[in-house]
Amino acid sequence: ATTARRVKTAEAEVSEEQVSIKGWVRTVRKQKTLAFVEVNDGSNMSGIQCVLPFDTVDEDTMKEIDNLTTGCSVHAIGQIIKSQGGKQAVELSASSLRIVGECPGDTFPLAKKRHSLEYLRTIAHLRPRTNTIAAVARVRSTLAGSIHKFFQGEGFNYVQTPLITASDCEGAGEMFRVTTLDIDDVASLPRAKDDEGKELAGVDYAEDFFGKAAFLTVSGQLGGETHACALGDVYTFGPTFRAENSQTTRHLAEFWMVEPEMAFADLTSAMDNAEAMLKACVGDVIEKCDEDLEFFGKFFDKGLKARLDKVVSKPFVRCEYRDAIKYLQEEIAKDPSKWQFPDVEFGTDLATEHERWLAETKFDSAVFVYNYPKSIKAFYMRDNDEDGGETVNAMDLLVPGVGELVGGSQREERMDVLVEKMKELDLDVEDYWWYLDLRRFGSVPHAGYGLGFERLVTYVCGIENIRDAIAFPRYPGNAEF
Ligand code: 4AD
Ligand code: MG
Repeated sequence: ATTARRVKTAEAEVSEEQVSIKGWVRTVRKQKTLAFVEVNDGSNMSGIQCVLPFDTVDEDTMKEIDNLTTGCSVHAIGQIIKSQGGKQAVELSASSLRIVGECPGDTFPLAKKRHSLEYLRTIAHLRPRTNTIAAVARVRSTLAGSIHKFFQGEGFNYVQTPLITASDCEGAGEMFRVTTLDIDDVASLPRAKDDEGKELAGVDYAEDFFGKAAFLTVSGQLGGETHACALGDVYTFGPTFRAENSQTTRHLAEFWMVEPEMAFADLTSAMDNAEAMLKACVGDVIEKCDEDLEFFGKFFDKGLKARLDKVVSKPFVRCEYRDAIKYLQEEIAKDPSKWQFPDVEFGTDLATEHERWLAETKFDSAVFVYNYPKSIKAFYMRDNDEDGGETVNAMDLLVPGVGELVGGSQREERMDVLVEKMKELDLDVEDYWWYLDLRRFGSVPHAGYGLGFERLVTYVCGIENIRDAIAFPRYPGNAEF
């Protein structure tokens, strides 16, 4: 009997064949003449119901039935038949069932149903065994596959940029240090010095990485640019790190970013590409994860399906930053007391409440806000010459429920303009010698963007907190598991 073909519950279909199902028990119901055991193997949400008639199962199975508990792993063999009850299409009419690993009901944290997501974060190693977190994991995996499929289909090359780097791409000083220094030796290390050579309190961390300062990357963009300026269209998809102390539902210290970079491209092509990519990915999830989406729609976000359908079928709105500010000012003037940050003017870095109002109320759509003030954006963004030098060719994509999902720009490809900007921002031009080489040797207009992958997962699942969109969330004070 052990030769029965293994079938995943997601693919279970009525057949004459003896098949085997392997998974974890969700519920056990014993009646007078038979037992019902719900088994979930992770391939889908509903799993399969195994029916065990006492008069036909083998003798050892009868012994096992008494020891079955929620959470134990089992191996069942039988035939997939049309379900007798109305709840599911098919069920397993089992001839045998064996416990593979026991699960004591008195200590298993998931023995009882219905736990808060907050509690589940404290058992991140077990939470994928819950419906919600398993569904997030399946949607996340589908999205990751769709992202690769989209870019590969468009002829983009996938490049892997380093995680350990000396460059602060965003210039926001949010980098984690990487060090080979022995913590015990720190007291005896040379002191850091200021520009005048005066000793400072801290250690000279320039020695961090065998003689060089080293950090965890905040973005793969700069590395991506080197390859776009050789391969044309590329994308990265990997972990990035931000050492910011933010306890929000939208920030992680470690998150994954998708960063396409395109040569001979401008801001409009970056927006077009981001829109096409999101439509393709959301379309894939609608097609492949219907059971999971239905669950999220029922328990987390009633309007989810309609919103995702709209992402696929309707063009995204595009709105200049200047106009966004005007709309916000008009709205805030109606009742400033409703806003946490009522002071909005040209130069304001939009807060989440502003972003969400634009996406949710003003436009009820994903919306690209573009042409941001130079003063609030990164050094590498291309000056908008048409706009009196006040703005740069930058865009953010704002979506309902989340706010900023994508941030991108056309890059400054003109050597002299870029160097001037870097000096204004007090960046050490020499540190970026290799980045400037891209402008020295065969420079081209190019553009790209970064998509926060966990924000996308949050958005597509309609869940509240980004900490539930990644298997092992890293946020201030949490690096367990
Ligand atoms: O807007 P950001 O900082 O842009 C960049 O890093 C550019 N270098 C990207 C590029 O042009 N190649 O980050 C891009 C996106 C944001 O829009 C947001 O979705 C996400 O990354 N993000 C975060 N996600 C989770 N936790 C954080 N702390 C995040 N910071 C940014
Ligand atoms: Mg941003």
